[in-house]
Amino acid sequence: MCAKNFNLEQFIADARKAAISENPINAAETLMQTTVADCKGVIANMPAIAECERMLFEDETVSIWYCRFEPNLIVPAHDHQMHVVVGVYQGIEEHSFFDNSNGEYKEVKSLNIGAAQVTKLSPNQIHTVTATKTASHALHIYLGKLSTVERSLFEFESGNEIPFSVENYEKLAQVN
Ligand SMILES: [Fe+2]
Repeated sequence: MCAKNFNLEQFIADARKAAISENPINAAETLMQTTVADCKGVIANMPAIAECERMLFEDETVSIWYCRFEPNLIVPAHDHQMHVVVGVYQGIEEHSFFDNSNGEYKEVKSLNIGAAQVTKLSPNQIHTVTATKTASHALHIYLGKLSTVERSLFEFESGNEIPFSVENYEKLAQVN
């Protein structure tokens, strides 16, 4: 894909198509890989977005977000209750994954996702995110209606599960 070809409206249209295709996870992953492979093109053509997170589109089948993470802030551990495809186009997203399936809350994996890289998260996967050195910029495709799904936050250290809300999210966000 040539740099000048990235177009946010087209990406949103393609992600909506992927979400209602026969295999939405694979289709969204393929779209994301093709898109962020040309990270310079995305940087050049993305509109300026001041806030850290912006919902670009949402319906019952898909939620499309711009997400920026800052190195001095760790977003609290959370799940999504739907499949997620993350594509980073600038900087490095630093993920830590947690497991609580055996009644014990523990970190099981960390993963850095750099520019032009894509990763998938399953509905019950729990993660925290920050950025390495400079802000990271990414497009996220959630295969469902993220704004209304009931999902959880997990308190640092204890892993106590609490309902996902803006208030709880801000309360748990940690300075890095
Ligand atoms: Fe997340």
